[in-house]
Amino acid sequence: MRFLTAGESHGPGLVALVDGVPAGLALSPAEIDVDLRRRQLGYGRGARQSIERDAVRITGGVRQGRTTGAPVALQIANRDAVNWERVMSVEPVPEPPDPVTRLRPGHADLAGALKFGHDDVRDVIERASARETAARVAAGAVAKALLRAVGTEVRSETRTIGEVSTMPTFDSEKVEASEVRCADAQTSARMVAAIAAAREAGDTLGGIVALRATGVVPGLGSFAEWDRRLDGRIAQALLSIQAAKGMQFADAFTAATERGSAVHDPITVREGHFSRTRNRAGGLEGGMTNGEDVLVDVAFKPISTLMKPLPSADLRTGAPSPAHVERSDVCVIPAAGVVAEAMLAFVLADALCEKFGNDDVADLVAAVERYRARLRPIDARRRGSTAPPGPRAAG
Ligand SMILES: Cc1cc2nc3c(=O)[nH]c(=O)nc-3n(C[C@H](O)[C@H](O)[C@H](O)COP(=O)(O)O)c2cc1C
Repeated sequence: MRFLTAGESHGPGLVALVDGVPAGLALSPAEIDVDLRRRQLGYGRGARQSIERDAVRITGGVRQGRTTGAPVALQIANRDAVNWERVMSVEPVPEPPDPVTRLRPGHADLAGALKFGHDDVRDVIERASARETAARVAAGAVAKALLRAVGTEVRSETRTIGEVSTMPTFDSEKVEASEVRCADAQTSARMVAAIAAAREAGDTLGGIVALRATGVVPGLGSFAEWDRRLDGRIAQALLSIQAAKGMQFADAFTAATERGSAVHDPITVREGHFSRTRNRAGGLEGGMTNGEDVLVDVAFKPISTLMKPLPSADLRTGAPSPAHVERSDVCVIPAAGVVAEAMLAFVLADALCEKFGNDDVADLVAAVERYRARLRPIDARRRGSTAPPGPRAAG
């Protein structure tokens, strides 16, 4: 599976084109809209979220509620576009809009304008903007639907906002009820207060999102080549999210300071299945899933558009000039969690299809079931397995 997105922040809308989705997967706009709505929520978002009511229109690849195997085309309209028609016009307009030339440190403005030769930073802003993450979330919802068919769920929780931290529990009901997507009510209140104080000061806050995938099929990815290693593929997908600046599997930065005996996860057999007594590997060993939960933290920097702008320079003249200010979020960690879920889900779904095929979802599910049946220790398989023996058991 792969996907591309197109569209600008204030243009007519976003598009995601998802290729390689197996046929026969039940998919409805309503289930995609649930995640689109979750992405829009969260204390600390800007006024844009009160304008938009994100909803997907599926314009390809789905018929009668099921995927056909053709590319799945997803469109999300920008309601705000009506306010930007002149600025975003495809055709030249008689009175061209004023160019944006004051560069925001921390945003794509300077590098983007230099790279593409733009003299209006608007040409960079519009696509670098994380409005694009609405399309990612829609594509991720398709991946989640596929993962659910094999019992895999991807969830997120806010671990840190500014200096306020908690230990995630992934209690979905509490997480979704919190306006900062943190299960602990007291910590949520402190996070909200920290965001309010940053807003008051004309400033912004970053934080850390924790992700957990459960019911993961073991053996996704491979140790055989660098670009097949799933840990690397997950890292690429997550770090491609706007403002994502760091990540770790489980507590990798702490583990790096400890001895191996404390870090590696002893192997045991529970109810006839290989299992671990702890999960400090974060569900991946040798670039493959090992069947334990996949645990990832992603660190996001504070938003770079500041209401009290940093010193900067003008793109055209080089003269000192405070950075451009435009309507912006103060803290996006609650939304970033939903985006990160989408990206992790997509990589896992892609790896699933790679291993089990992506023509027909029923074939895929049957292949996963047969594979799971042969993953038990050989003796457990010989005792009382009703599943057909895998090639190794037969040998
Ligand atoms: C959900 C989400 C919303 C964002 N909203 C804003 C915003 O309102 N203002 C802003 O300056 N940056 C925002 N960002 C971050 C920028 O898009 C990002 O910093 C910029 O594209 C530069 O890329 P980089 O930070 O990855 O280097 C947001 C990021 C995410 C994940």
